[in-house]
Amino acid sequence: MSAVAITPEPSIRSMRWEDLPAVLRIEEQSYEFPWTLAIFRDCLRVGYVCRVIEGPGGVIGHGLMSVGAGECHLLNVCVQPDYQRRGLGTRLVEHLLDEARRRGVRMALLEVRVSNQVAYRIYQRLGFDEIGLRKDYYPARHGREDAILLARELHA
Ligand SMILES: CC(C)(COP(=O)(O)OP(=O)(O)OC[C@H]1O[C@@H](n2cnc3c(N)ncnc32)[C@H](O)[C@@H]1OP(=O)(O)O)[C@@H](O)C(=O)NCCC(=O)NCCS
Repeated sequence: MSAVAITPEPSIRSMRWEDLPAVLRIEEQSYEFPWTLAIFRDCLRVGYVCRVIEGPGGVIGHGLMSVGAGECHLLNVCVQPDYQRRGLGTRLVEHLLDEARRRGVRMALLEVRVSNQVAYRIYQRLGFDEIGLRKDYYPARHGREDAILLARELHA
């Protein structure tokens, strides 16, 4: 019998305090204006839905979402650059939406930078529609950048 090396599929699990150094590294590799450690700590502390994608060598992505009053807000979805374009970002968003559904959420919301066409297309394909524009919502290299507000109804 020949030995076959099987690389396990990345899996999605709850974020733990000890994941934070890896999460912060990925955040800083992926965004020009990354979240700080303090923001991630606060999200864990207040009990937001915080998930990581675990690859063969450790954490390779993260997704965070707040849930309340029948709505969820996708706050951060991020995949380590070497692992992008393999469907993981889409899987992570679908995972968060499933979790929201399980908690009785009917409406999902998120903001995306006007310039972030990759993320915008993923959300559009997942059924999100534009419902507004938040002027000067994000920091930018020269001043501020607008955010597109996207929403999607969730059915049980
Ligand atoms: C947005 C992000 C999470 C997507 O993660 P991902 O794992 O690459 O996403 P997927 O592999 O599921 O890609 C979904 C689609 O986007 C396309 N895509 C992904 N990266 C792309 C790129 N750099 N350029 C063009 N298309 C891209 C994929 O081709 C795929 O389309 P397809 O199914 O037609 O092939 C990832 O690019 C990322 O972490 N970016 C930095 C952080 C960020 O901007 N987060 C979103 C904030 S709102």
